[in-house]
Amino acid sequence: MSSPFKDRVIWITGASSGIGEALAYALDQKGAKLILSARRETELERVRSHSNGQNSDIEILPFDLADITSHEEVVTNAVGRFGKVDMLINNGGISQRGLAHETRLDVVRQIMEVNFFGTVNITKRLLPFMIERKSGHIVVMSSVMGKFGTRLRSAYAASKHALHGWYDCLRQEVGVHNIDVSLVCPGYVKTNVTLNALRADGTQLNRMGAGQMAGMEPDQFVDKLLPKLAKRKKEIYIGGREVIPVYLKRFFPGLLDGLLKRVSVT
Ligand SMILES: NC(=O)c1ccc[n+]([C@@H]2O[C@H](COP(=O)([O-])OP(=O)(O)OC[C@H]3O[C@@H](n4cnc5c(N)ncnc54)[C@H](OP(=O)(O)O)[C@@H]3O)[C@@H](O)[C@H]2O)c1
Repeated sequence: MSSPFKDRVIWITGASSGIGEALAYALDQKGAKLILSARRETELERVRSHSNGQNSDIEILPFDLADITSHEEVVTNAVGRFGKVDMLINNGGISQRGLAHETRLDVVRQIMEVNFFGTVNITKRLLPFMIERKSGHIVVMSSVMGKFGTRLRSAYAASKHALHGWYDCLRQEVGVHNIDVSLVCPGYVKTNVTLNALRADGTQLNRMGAGQMAGMEPDQFVDKLLPKLAKRKKEIYIGGREVIPVYLKRFFPGLLDGLLKRVSVT
C-alpha cells in the first residue's frame, strides 16, 4: 500500500534536532517532499545529508520563529520551493526550568514569542495558500504541558495551553476549507529540549533532566505519531506514565493537584 505521505509537501519547523530531525528522516523514507526549518542552517544541512530516502527532495529554509518580521518572506519562500505546502508541522520550540516568581518577564515573553506567536504567525501566513487550494493539514507540537501544569514550567505550559486555544478555534474555522488541525502532546522524548530550556534568568539549563533521560527515543515517538497523523487525529497523546495526568486532570483534578506536588518533575 502506498504511503499517505508519498509526494506530500511537508514543512517541518524545529527540524535541526530531536523530534523534528526524526520526523524528517521518517517522512523522507516515506517519500515526502520536505522543507526543513530551524535557526541553525549547518544543522539543517546535516539532517539533509543524513536523510537517505529514495525521494531525497529536501529543501532547507532557515529562519527564527521569534523574528516575526521575516515570516512573510519565509512563507513565500516555503510555498515557492515545491509550489505548495500540504502539511505544516509546527514543531520548533523551547522549554523552561525556573520558578514562576523568579522567571524574568522577558524570559516569559521569549518563550511565548517562539512557542506561541512565532508558530501562530507562520500558520496564519500559510493559511491563505491552503484555503485557496481547499486542502491542508496543520500539525502543532504541543506537550502534555499543554493539558496540565507542573512546577518550573509556568511559561512553557502557558505557551502550550495557548496553542490549544488558538488551534482548537482555528479547526472550527477551517474545516469548511478541507483543512485539518492536529495537536500533538508528547510526554518525555529523549531530545535536547531540557538542555536548551531557559532558566529564570534566561540562560540555558545545559543539563538533561531525569525524566528526559528515561524518555522515549525520537524515532520511536515518530513511529507512533505518523499513523495518527495519517488519520488526521485532532488531539494525540504519546508517552509513558506522564500521559496519565491528562486524564486525571479531566476526571479527578483535585487528586492530580495533590499528586503533582509530591512527584519529581526535573
Ligand atoms: N522532547 C520532549 O520530551 C518534548 C515533550 C513535549 C513537547 N515537546 C516539544 O517538541 C518540540 C520539539 O522539541 P525537541 O524535544 O525535539 O527539542 P530540541 O531538540 O531542543 O528541538 C527544538 C527545535 O526547535 C528549534 N528552535 C528553537 N528555537 C527556535 C527559534 N527561535 N526559531 C526557530 N526554531 C527554533 C531548534 O532549532 P535551532 O536551535 O536550530 O533553531 C530545534 O530544531 C518542541 O515544541 C517541544 O516543546 C518535546
